Amino acid sequence: MRRVEPQSRARGGQHKLIGWLKSLFARKRDDYVRIPRHEAATTDTVKPAPKPNGEKVRAIDALEAARKQAEAEKWRRTGVGNLDDQAKNRGTALENEHELIARVARRIEERNFDLPQLPATQMAAMNMAGDPNCEINSVVELISTDPVLSSELLRIANSPAYSKDEPAETLHEAVMRLGTRVLRSMIYTVSIRGSVVSVRGLKSYSEEIWRQAFMVGNIAKTIAPKLNMEPEKAFLLGLLHDVGKIVLLSVLKSENLKAKDIPPSTMGRIFFRFHERAGGLMAESWKLSPEITSVIQKHHDFANNPDHPKSAALVSLAHRMDLYLSTADEEGFMDLMRAEEFEFLGIPMGERQGVLSRGRAAYQQEFQRNRKVA
Ligand SMILES: [Fe+2]
Ligand SMILES: [Fe+2]
Repeated sequence: MRRVEPQSRARGGQHKLIGWLKSLFARKRDDYVRIPRHEAATTDTVKPAPKPNGEKVRAIDALEAARKQAEAEKWRRTGVGNLDDQAKNRGTALENEHELIARVARRIEERNFDLPQLPATQMAAMNMAGDPNCEINSVVELISTDPVLSSELLRIANSPAYSKDEPAETLHEAVMRLGTRVLRSMIYTVSIRGSVVSVRGLKSYSEEIWRQAFMVGNIAKTIAPKLNMEPEKAFLLGLLHDVGKIVLLSVLKSENLKAKDIPPSTMGRIFFRFHERAGGLMAESWKLSPEITSVIQKHHDFANNPDHPKSAALVSLAHRMDLYLSTADEEGFMDLMRAEEFEFLGIPMGERQGVLSRGRAAYQQEFQRNRKVA
């Protein structure tokens, strides 16, 4: 009988092992899909994509919700949307807040600060555009003497909010296309933006004031037809209703304060107390129309606005829509169905959801546009 050497027994074992490994790999290869070489970046095999399961879909939803939450948190941290809302300003107060508020009150009463000025060209162009018999050529000629106004007008005329067809390449084209009514809104928009930007040192607040003004203008313009109001007038009312906040930034600048010196809650209380009064001063200085001036002076307590309570109610509603949307307060937004503003404007319950949906769409469109620009 032939004796099997331990070495050849080991070799037989190796063969068995190699055979088993081969069969294993042969089976495994079926689990892989060969893809054309030109489609493969670094390898010619790729595992088939796993089918999405419920858990993965839920995880993606959770990620999306977290992203939205983070965005809302970012807004909250900078005080966005709650700068003049008493109910939402319960944060830490500045140690010497009372003294600061007393000093702000004194400066406003004594007019002891630099009121943002409207450049002469912009004032003249605005008056000209406000005249129904004005000559387009004269307006264009006047605007073209102000390079900042000209370039800003072209930029805004070509923004999605205004431009619907081909882009306007010349100032004349832009003015012709938009008409003097829209042109007037745009000159105000450029002027407000210029005034906000000119307040240095309080950038995070001035940026928020600009965001809020333009957003409330857009929301007001979008919901206006549902409230039987003229959209372009609604835009101006929304854009300008809080100009008092720009005045207050000037007052704080006179106090040599920077954004880091003033917590949002303190800023909110200063705005809440003084912005309508301060806005009245700016409206006088800028010679704004009686209706706009009246809404600037009294819009939070809209029902007691002596001259234009309905316009004030429209602005108040647009402001609150922006407030809840910018702070991701969905419950607050949905509660607007029972808003006093709707009651006051005589909007039946069945039509309110439509108004809120339009306002939300306007907010989202502008929010997306800003995100692309940023
Ligand atoms: Fe306000
Ligand atoms: Fe407001």
